[in-house]
Amino acid sequence: ASLYMRGIPCVQIPTTLLSQVDSSVGGKTAVDFNGVKNVVGAFYQPQEVLIAPEFLRTLPQKEIKCGIGEIVKYCALNSEIFDKAQKQVDLTDEEFLTGLIVDCVAHKAQVVANDEKETGDRKSLNIGHTTGHAIELSFGLSHGESVLYGMLFETQIAIDYGVCDKKYGENLLKIVRKALAISPVVSIDFSQVDAWANKAKADKKNEKSGVITMSVPKGKGVWSLFTLSYDEYIKALQKVVK
Ligand code: GLY
Repeated sequence: ASLYMRGIPCVQIPTTLLSQVDSSVGGKTAVDFNGVKNVVGAFYQPQEVLIAPEFLRTLPQKEIKCGIGEIVKYCALNSEIFDKAQKQVDLTDEEFLTGLIVDCVAHKAQVVANDEKETGDRKSLNIGHTTGHAIELSFGLSHGESVLYGMLFETQIAIDYGVCDKKYGENLLKIVRKALAISPVVSIDFSQVDAWANKAKADKKNEKSGVITMSVPKGKGVWSLFTLSYDEYIKALQKVVK
């Protein structure tokens, strides 16, 4: 819609959990190109977003798990969402998810209203995504599951570097692991770090060439940007993967 006839009005009617909690709102559109995630696209706001949670009943569990990946991202950004997910035993419960759609959209709408073009606070919505995108490109996991692994690795790196409060970070990691344990669980061999993490080099979130820039959790509802040289990033990942 952003390209056709130099732009036509668009209404989003998201039918996956991932699009209902995140991507239908905020006007980011893009395609992957030349081995880089979302590198060709536009910011193009829909006229309306119509969300019917009944669509969740049509989805296989793999899709529900994928959407939960983005919900867990919001746990790292919003204390109330964190508390709800921490208490919830079954993250796939329909009533729980329906409530969380409202919470995540409300959080995102506020962030995007203040920073549509991602010059500041919208970068918070990239938590887990730098490493997540490298995983998505390398292993073909769903976007949401890749973001969960990205959060697993980047949160641990942030704890190890003293950027993220240890106790808080470990509680966040418990939620990440609870989500990763939802079936279907695909077992991935992350041990050859160099072979997959090099995909993060071309990520458009990097502040300059030769470095890896991540949005990482710091404390409850608090995040920051964190940049490592590529060599430091690989070493940090190797320590986590061991
Ligand atoms: N999916 C992250 C964003 O819209 O900024």
